[in-house]
Amino acid sequence: MNTDEFVRRRRQLMRMMGRGSVAILPAAQTRLRNRDVLYAYRQDSDFYYLTGFAEPDAVAVLAPGRPEGEYLLFCRERDPDKETWDGTRAGPGNAVTRFGADAAWPIDAVEELLPKIVGACDRVYYTMGAHPEFEQRLMGWVSRLRIRGGAGTHTPDEFIALDHFLHDLRLYKSREEAGAMRRAARIAVQAHRRAMSMCRPGLFEYQIEAEFMHEFRSHGAQPSYQPIVGSGANTCILHYHANDRRMEDGDLLLVDAGCEYDYYASDVTRTYPVNGRFTPEQRAIYEVVLDAHEAALAAVAPGNPWSEPHEAAVRHVTKGLKKIGLLEGAVSSLIRNRAYQKFFMHRTGHWLGMDVHDVGDYKIADQWRVLEPGMALTVEPGIYIPPGTRGVPKRWWNIGVRIEDDVLVTREGADVLTRDLPRDPDVLEALVGAAAQ
Ligand code: GLY
Ligand code: MN
Ligand code: MN
Repeated sequence: MNTDEFVRRRRQLMRMMGRGSVAILPAAQTRLRNRDVLYAYRQDSDFYYLTGFAEPDAVAVLAPGRPEGEYLLFCRERDPDKETWDGTRAGPGNAVTRFGADAAWPIDAVEELLPKIVGACDRVYYTMGAHPEFEQRLMGWVSRLRIRGGAGTHTPDEFIALDHFLHDLRLYKSREEAGAMRRAARIAVQAHRRAMSMCRPGLFEYQIEAEFMHEFRSHGAQPSYQPIVGSGANTCILHYHANDRRMEDGDLLLVDAGCEYDYYASDVTRTYPVNGRFTPEQRAIYEVVLDAHEAALAAVAPGNPWSEPHEAAVRHVTKGLKKIGLLEGAVSSLIRNRAYQKFFMHRTGHWLGMDVHDVGDYKIADQWRVLEPGMALTVEPGIYIPPGTRGVPKRWWNIGVRIEDDVLVTREGADVLTRDLPRDPDVLEALVGAAAQ
């Protein structure tokens, strides 16, 4: 991402905060996986959004109008010995020259300097609840200021959730952000195509997962969440992650896998038969989901409420299930009584951005938010019929279908970022196993 983009974001946020305020954002912490092995480090999305700084042990401070500098960064000092083991660090010098901080200090100085900066402000913005340990330290500094200061000491009297401003900014994607999302979408599309072409009975689900890893890493991307590769009954487990079953002839396969590129996520699902031929029941369910998906996509347009794609999907899923005979009764009462939830138990989408379930309010004052250009969301209706589903004949069991695409709301309507990945069942049948020996 271009450095101007980060400058612009900081300016926008500071304009919203106004003078006399300070925003404090800690970097994500490293986390132990086992013994002395760490999980792969990923910077906190809010922190990265404003700084473009990918290292742990850092605190960013924005103080609009502060005469000595508005953007301050505390970070790890250079250390040749440690850098030999763990790689280079920017250090405070580069934090200024390369990352645009007005001033930067070693992270250890935070204890001494930050309370002074906080003490000089009226309002403190931070992401409440997101970093409990840091929040405790912050509150400790403020309490000490109050106790030690005595009469006449100035301390901030408002603590405000940063989320409202910051997450509202993140909800609207700039041209640069849309570019990164397009790239993440394109890599995911290629990965799904690759996996489809390799798919055949006898492979294990993790071998399909491996095709995604190959394609993601080949393009400098990584998974944006744990891939879901579920076959047979596993298609009906919404967050299935084991990915360790052998795929059999006659199974459906549901693959929900997306990648993160330059800190932006894609989130894509396709469902297809492992052997390249839908059974009549699988195809019937697939076509209901596809119909719901098309109806939901058509409802993504500026000016429409956030709820409209979901409501369209619910109508089409309910009608389709009734036509097949899996729901009985009047469509209107089936919708009112939420009878469809037996088979379609999640919502039709979520915001998409730096986080796969991205930030941003879905409602404003109890009203569904209206879609606007720059917002990005997924469209992902599904129907799931696990084995043993009561009142459903056995031939329908083990069918879980979800179709998920990524959509950017534009001035004209909607741009489906993952449109190049086929959804048509005949096209899927032709692609599945095309590269398998
Ligand atoms: N991959 C998670 C979701 O579809 O929401
Ligand atoms: Mn999703
Ligand atoms: Mn998904």
